[in-house]
Amino acid sequence: MRQPMNYSDLVRPDAVHGSVYTDPCIFQDELQRIYAQEWIYVGHTSEIPKKGDYKRSTIGTQPVILCRDTDGDVQVLFNRCRHRAATVCQEPCGNAQKFRCEYHGWTYELNGNLTGIPYEDGYENIDKSQLSLTKPSAIDTYRGFVFACMRKPKINLLDSLGGPTREQIDYFCDLSPEGEVLVQAGTVKLVYQGSWKLQMENSIDGYHPNFTHQSFFKTIKRMTGVRMDNFNGSSIVCVRDLGQGNSVIDSADFNAVPERKAHKLKALKRTLWGQKYYDDMVDAYGVERAEDVIVVGGTHMNVFPNLVTLGQQIRTIRPIAVDRTEVDLAPTLLKGVPDELNTMRIRQFEQFYSPQGGGIHDDVEMFNRVQEGLACTMEPWLLFQRGLHREVTLPDGSIKGQVTDETPQRAMWKHWLEVMEKNVDY
Ligand code: FES
Ligand SMILES: [Fe+2]
Repeated sequence: MRQPMNYSDLVRPDAVHGSVYTDPCIFQDELQRIYAQEWIYVGHTSEIPKKGDYKRSTIGTQPVILCRDTDGDVQVLFNRCRHRAATVCQEPCGNAQKFRCEYHGWTYELNGNLTGIPYEDGYENIDKSQLSLTKPSAIDTYRGFVFACMRKPKINLLDSLGGPTREQIDYFCDLSPEGEVLVQAGTVKLVYQGSWKLQMENSIDGYHPNFTHQSFFKTIKRMTGVRMDNFNGSSIVCVRDLGQGNSVIDSADFNAVPERKAHKLKALKRTLWGQKYYDDMVDAYGVERAEDVIVVGGTHMNVFPNLVTLGQQIRTIRPIAVDRTEVDLAPTLLKGVPDELNTMRIRQFEQFYSPQGGGIHDDVEMFNRVQEGLACTMEPWLLFQRGLHREVTLPDGSIKGQVTDETPQRAMWKHWLEVMEKNVDY
């Protein structure tokens, strides 16, 4: 049996040891201590609007089915037949009346109850009520985001998210005058040869865009005249550590600069549909909140360990192996807005994140390069001290840094260490 790992030797306030990305034993500990014990994002209620709707998802490496049962309740079921373990749901999403295992025909209701065993007389005293599909210990939702916790949660979902994180989810959803985002516009999937934590580090990394995405920014400048290379010290955008390993690239300060705020609102109203959208937002939320939400324009946030809400998309990160990760990128629609606005969101998503888009491939290439570089172990530490000396703690407890600072990455690693050291009782 291997010796227990001393994680505080591997994560410092300003640096992280390379083995946390490459050691298969640490990956196994992550599955047990993070994915089996923390609240994990599994999907959105708008993906399963009708009874019988389902979607395959994962908790760590374990396949689950997110579905809506015949009572209209949201269920999360482990995708493993109670007979001899075959998965009972194969399609990524769809609508079903039941889940029938195709190995020997055992059949389950949408709430997981076992209802049918072929040639049942071959079993003596079998109690079907004890052979339902298994479920995580807890599921809960916030604004349609469904989270599951395999073990009994140590803390409820709302507290686990924390106030500053819920505030960011509210920004994301309140862009709809009806307060709802719809995850109904398809999903782009990508896979890379690297640790799941590389995608988490990168999603809220304001240091890399001017370099990793230089060619994309140049193309946009050439085509439209719009400069996008504003990720530098003069940016009005900042980064914040929200607590619980969560962090945001924050545009809230646009509201504090009257001319920048006025410019954003004017640009909206210049579109054919902008005035109607603005009026509907004001009707729904009042002028102050409506303008606040419009000017901030959603959020760009990591929720530890596997959810990102970024502009118009929801990103789900799925660990597969220590050096292999799958990521779902789902563009979202806003309920109750002019069609043109939703079309614009999809076009914006496609421009950067779709298979023919100009940005996401750059990031994936960097993940592959980092994982390859980690094979060099003479100097094993990765440096995360950027901006440590200039961070400021705000009244809500969040920690603010300049947009290129590594405050968000430090936020993730600080929480990672805490969870890996705390959740040892499995
Ligand atoms: S494994 Fe499912 S019925 Fe046998
Ligand atoms: Fe990027």
